[in-house]
Amino acid sequence: MNAESSAPWWRHAVVYQVYPRSFSDANGDGIGDLPGITSRLTHLRDLGVDALWISPFYTSPQHDHGYDVADYRDIDPLFGTLADADELIARSHQLGLRVIVDLVPNHTSDQHDWFQAALAAAPGSPERARYVFRDGRGPNGEEPPNNWSSVFGGPAWERVPDGQWYLHLFDRTQPDLDWRNPEVGDMFEDVLRFWLDRGVDGFRVDVAHGLLKEESLRDQILAEGEEPTSGASAGESMMGGLPRDEPMWDQPEVHDVYRRWRRVLSEYDGDRMLVAEAWTQTAASLARYVRPDEMHQAFNFAWLLAPWSAEAFAGVVTSTLQALDDAAPTWVLSNHDVVRHVTRYGGGPVGLARARAATVTMLALPGSAYLYQGEELGLEEVDVAPEHRQDPAWVRTGRSSRDGCRVPIPWSGDRPPYGFGPGTGQPWLPQPSDWARRTVAAEDGVAGSTLELYREALAARRKLAAAEPDAVELLDLGAEVLAFRRGALTVVLNCGEAPVPMPAGEVVLASGPVADTLPADTAVWLR
Ligand code: NOJ
Ligand code: CA
Repeated sequence: MNAESSAPWWRHAVVYQVYPRSFSDANGDGIGDLPGITSRLTHLRDLGVDALWISPFYTSPQHDHGYDVADYRDIDPLFGTLADADELIARSHQLGLRVIVDLVPNHTSDQHDWFQAALAAAPGSPERARYVFRDGRGPNGEEPPNNWSSVFGGPAWERVPDGQWYLHLFDRTQPDLDWRNPEVGDMFEDVLRFWLDRGVDGFRVDVAHGLLKEESLRDQILAEGEEPTSGASAGESMMGGLPRDEPMWDQPEVHDVYRRWRRVLSEYDGDRMLVAEAWTQTAASLARYVRPDEMHQAFNFAWLLAPWSAEAFAGVVTSTLQALDDAAPTWVLSNHDVVRHVTRYGGGPVGLARARAATVTMLALPGSAYLYQGEELGLEEVDVAPEHRQDPAWVRTGRSSRDGCRVPIPWSGDRPPYGFGPGTGQPWLPQPSDWARRTVAAEDGVAGSTLELYREALAARRKLAAAEPDAVELLDLGAEVLAFRRGALTVVLNCGEAPVPMPAGEVVLASGPVADTLPADTAVWLR
């Protein structure tokens, strides 16, 4: 299919993820906010992205930094007001940027009115029926109803004083809704309309594969030595591992929800869109979320999970495009849940060179690309000291923490808070002392900086890639090299250790210095 100009805006969009706590702090309390985002929108326009996706800003006790929503129709005072949200949306539109908001339908906060009412009501009541309350097992019901684990570690069930248990696939403060109860679907249709009426262009749907659970709530069958489920482990099978038994994820009935939402969005003008966060087991199961009457896009986590290997990258390109048929592919390397890609690829100068090369490659692929705030500066994962960590996954288990990719963005200056806010002290997560050369101001206008590379790559994408056909032809330039042709564009990524010869053509974009050959850890676009 061609990238005709009649394609909806999202089909080839570059979307920039804003994590509100960590983007820009207008009022100086050390935590990012909506007026802060609005004040920095010109950075996104100058970068050349098409849209921003904003992680949750709704009323929330912030146990999972907003992925625990207490009121879907209001803004947490930490981030501002509804008027601030309106201003953010209006200003984005003036600058030609679309706005995607984050919708969290799998669970609410335990502070949501519905959950508070459920706790106050009796077992078997309509209030409890909006969540997944069950009696326990064992003679006195003192064992959880099944063996499921929370993605954040520990059991997925919490007992309430009258002896019943409720399901939480994430933190204890994030009770799962029961999507088999029609009240739940009706509530979310209202929420969609609330934000569509305010002018948002789309929704990123949190845990899109989780809303419906296998009705029996049977035990998960774990193979010998297999860790209990974590939504993200699904990606392992995407990378060639064995399929897992997952009665809590990716149930067929979930697709009815998205068919309904698609119909709601179609009533609105302006190509509103839905993008799924769905950690499914295979490219084929992911493709089911983007059938013509369901969502418009789904994050392609296989690309992000691939190791630094030409063979692995080529495998993901092939399986993605094959599984999707005519649906829109997406590509992503970093977000607020994973280790930043500079660090995943080894950190330091090598990690940075590889990250830049992977990004340049990604931006030539058909479909749309998602960027995460700070990657345009080449930021690395920060080793946040244990006493500062706040991720509930860390708090529950003391194992992994996602805090290291959530450290506030450095804008200017030579010491914390690097222009993140007006104050002088450290923001909510401390910034490293060596970020002076990684600020937006320090990289602005500096040839070869990562910021300038991103600007150049996004401009090149608009000018040279957007009009090319979607079809990708893989080329064989050796085992260590990912190479493909897309229309008049040839893209070569050298994942090996030695320089490789380049195909004929004019180099129109390069992730690092190139000569007659293509150095290790470098990618180019040729025409
Ligand atoms: C996925 C979000 O990206 C993550 O940050 C959050 O913790 C879980 N869903 C639970 O909402
Ligand atoms: Ca603030």
